[in-house]
Amino acid sequence: MVSQSVNQHAPLDPAALADSLRPFGESRMLPRAAYVDPAVFDWEQRHFFGGGWLCVGRSSQVPAPGDLRAEPVGAGSVLLARDEDGALRAFANTCRHRGHELLPCGSAAQQRVIICPYHSWTYSLNGNLRAAAGFKNRPGFQADRWGLVELPVEEWHGLVFVDGSGAAGSLADSLGTLEEFVAPYEPERLTVAGQHDYEVAANWKILTENYHECYHCPVIHPELCKVSPPKSGENYSAPGTWIGGWMDLRDGMDTMSLDGSSGGISLRKLDARGRRTVVYVNVFPNVLVSLHPDYVMTHRLTPLAADRTRIECTWAFAPEAVAAPGFDPGYAVEFWDITNQQDWRACESVQRGLSSPHAVPGPLSAEEDAVYQVVTMIARGYQGQPVWNPSAAARVS
Ligand code: FES
Ligand SMILES: [Fe+2]
Repeated sequence: MVSQSVNQHAPLDPAALADSLRPFGESRMLPRAAYVDPAVFDWEQRHFFGGGWLCVGRSSQVPAPGDLRAEPVGAGSVLLARDEDGALRAFANTCRHRGHELLPCGSAAQQRVIICPYHSWTYSLNGNLRAAAGFKNRPGFQADRWGLVELPVEEWHGLVFVDGSGAAGSLADSLGTLEEFVAPYEPERLTVAGQHDYEVAANWKILTENYHECYHCPVIHPELCKVSPPKSGENYSAPGTWIGGWMDLRDGMDTMSLDGSSGGISLRKLDARGRRTVVYVNVFPNVLVSLHPDYVMTHRLTPLAADRTRIECTWAFAPEAVAAPGFDPGYAVEFWDITNQQDWRACESVQRGLSSPHAVPGPLSAEEDAVYQVVTMIARGYQGQPVWNPSAAARVS
């Protein structure tokens, strides 16, 4: 099977997509329907969210053998299971009997086996069918044919990725050079000490595009501009499945917080440059990782509808900082909660604005080069080209 979406175009005007793919400086934003049309949303669920690597959570949410968790992947959901050997597995969250979900999507459990809540078919943590009431002596019934459908799963710096297509190749190939930017922060070693869950009335792409530009910062983020110059930094050239860039901290500011001071400890492997910058990366399609000198903030986006997105935002710190007496993650959490809310308000207004039939795709400023990267990656995907394979993506860009 070929990786997702090849030759399966999204239901969008080809001429409008061609405009989105014109050279930077001449291009237009995605067509309005990409943000408001339920048919486009359904296509994205199948091809972007269910058709390749997708972040479905954190390793620390399924740390021990017997830990189970169900998360949405595209049109369906996936059951994560830590098996008896400590390996993480992912199964389609659908019973092999008549399809009942093995665990309600969004919930977690700790069990030695996986038991379907409908007729109690029972699977081991490695997906093998162990018991099916009434089938034991049935002629011709081969239990080994009725194990759970397993999907590729990989853990990368404490994040869990599942390939809903089963055919996307290795995650490392897909991420390419991102490893070298993220590794010094050792996110897998850090302790999550803050979490906010948001539900925003905006399309997931509006949130992603907003993440990738600071053209709006002087207008809506006074707190951010106090600690980080909005015109600082650059974006990386990153063929493949991620987009990112960095920004400076102002002189005298140690991190992103309301007064620029850190209530934590600098991450131990960062060089002088890492201690003076904030790195922003987006692993397509749904996870935004913001790497600070002393903490890592992660936004995981789950699209709920064309105009609605759930966002799980977590803040992780060095374990030695969290263990220190009096540690309070609020310096980071409050700063970004204020900034997040400013962003969500703007994004919700964009969604309302784009609901007008008179909305027409606009041009991008010189400061929106990473938005151009997002738009062109998505537009290529809409055209049925593989966005998950870095070499293929590089060929078509
Ligand atoms: S659907 Fe799962 S046991 Fe019947
Ligand atoms: Fe913002």
